[in-house]
Amino acid sequence: MINIQNVSKWYGQFQVLTDCTTHVNKGEVVVVCGPSGSGKSTLIKCVNGLEPIQKGEIIVNDIKVNDPSTNLPKLRSHVGMVFQHFELFPHMSITENLCIGQTKVLGRSQDEARERGLKLLDRVGLKEQANKFPGELSGGQQQRVAIARALSMDPICMLFDEPTSALDPEMINEVLDVMVELAQEGMTMMVVTHEMGFARKVAHRVVFMDHGQIVEDATKDDFFNTPRSDRAQQFLSKILNH
Ligand SMILES: Nc1ncnc2c1ncn2[C@@H]1O[C@H](COP(=O)(O)OP(=O)(O)O)[C@@H](O)[C@H]1O
Ligand SMILES: [Mg+2]
Repeated sequence: MINIQNVSKWYGQFQVLTDCTTHVNKGEVVVVCGPSGSGKSTLIKCVNGLEPIQKGEIIVNDIKVNDPSTNLPKLRSHVGMVFQHFELFPHMSITENLCIGQTKVLGRSQDEARERGLKLLDRVGLKEQANKFPGELSGGQQQRVAIARALSMDPICMLFDEPTSALDPEMINEVLDVMVELAQEGMTMMVVTHEMGFARKVAHRVVFMDHGQIVEDATKDDFFNTPRSDRAQQFLSKILNH
């Protein structure tokens, strides 16, 4: 579903990604982890063309993301993306947040969009919040709305960039529970996260990045059980000890 081939990227003189190669098969969950500044967000943004690449190739569902003739807005409408900071529209109700992409981008009727949106809101456990505004919801609730909003577009895959790292600890699980459920239903997911409990539960593979390179790309069991690079070991021992 997602194929990243020998991708390199520079911000000016600074090389942020070096020869990155990995993939996510249909129905697979791949967790991307690594130290801050290692290029995780940049890599995931390249997948839906939010950042251009200078070398290599990214193919999503047989569409070349870095081909100038590719209709990126159309591609992005089918690739769900959930960020650290929710990015809901603050001046719109939860229902309006759930409908706007469906009506404006997919051309669904108000009624159809509303029905689909409310169904998904129910699925993330927030049916009662439909008429509230984002500012009236907790961080965990807002992030669940953001996931429902991404799902309302019937995505072919979902990209998550540290979806729980801005949340208070007691809200992390309510978001992870929704993500675990999605994974178990077979959604194709690329997830930047340091939640290793989530990785252990649902990841098929774990990609470890350092200094813009993919240092490890291993099955979950290999990543957690068998000897691996020093850098990944150091990183894991740090995050697992806190
Ligand atoms: N728009 C940008 N311009 C220049 N440098 C950037 C930009 N975005 C990120 N960087 C740099 O690229 C590196 C990787 O950033 P990022 O992909 O955000 O890492 P991560 O998500 O792993 O923390 C960092 O050194 C960061 O400072
Ligand atoms: Mg990041």
